[in-house]
Amino acid sequence: MKSNTANIITIDGTSSSGKSTISKLLAEKLNYSLLDSGKLYRAAGYINSQNKDASNDINNLINLISKISLQVDEESFEFEIYYHNKKIDHLLYSEDVGKFASVVSKIPEVRKCMLTLQHSCVKEPGLIANGRDMGSEVFPNASLKIYITASIEIRARRRFNELNEKGENVDYENIYESLKKRDDSDMRRKISPLKVPDNAEIIDTSYLKPDAIVDKILNLYTIT
Ligand code: DC
Repeated sequence: MKSNTANIITIDGTSSSGKSTISKLLAEKLNYSLLDSGKLYRAAGYINSQNKDASNDINNLINLISKISLQVDEESFEFEIYYHNKKIDHLLYSEDVGKFASVVSKIPEVRKCMLTLQHSCVKEPGLIANGRDMGSEVFPNASLKIYITASIEIRARRRFNELNEKGENVDYENIYESLKKRDDSDMRRKISPLKVPDNAEIIDTSYLKPDAIVDKILNLYTIT
């Protein structure tokens, strides 16, 4: 049975495995709010990229990061990221910001700040939270935990198409290599590594369409 605590579905997995698409569809179907925790780490990475000297002084970096806040968009129910009260979501999706995010996400003090922000997102009727450690560290008592992945070739192709559509000049081989490095770094880091959370359901999205994956998750949700 679902726990009596707030309804939370966590969706963890590798980069470009489809977490964001699936989470959005699920949030729409269930009328739940949506937290994409990768966006929070991207925001920290973005702030670091704009203040490169800050990373040499953790207190300084934390001070800058503490100016991040979250607000739910009234239409999409997605938590959006504000920095000094200005929305910055549109600045967070370049490869460069992704690289900075991967570095700052290994800093324990940064993760501690993010934990508080993430916990503040729980609200009725429920929350879909996606990332790397949602089921293992942030919401270990979630009602349902999903771990999704897909082959690295398919993920690299998805990421390549996504950036191409945004007009970024990208090279498939570079994307492939950078995904490989990111997987490695996410899985091997000492703090909150990407892993299959206890009691998680594993879904390989390589050959499944988003709607089929969502149906699968909704089915699991109704029987838990
Ligand atoms: O999912 P993404 O590519 O937007 O994530 C950006 C970076 O943030 C990635 O390097 C992994 C890190 N991250 C994390 O450490 N913990 C999370 N819960 C989510 C993302």
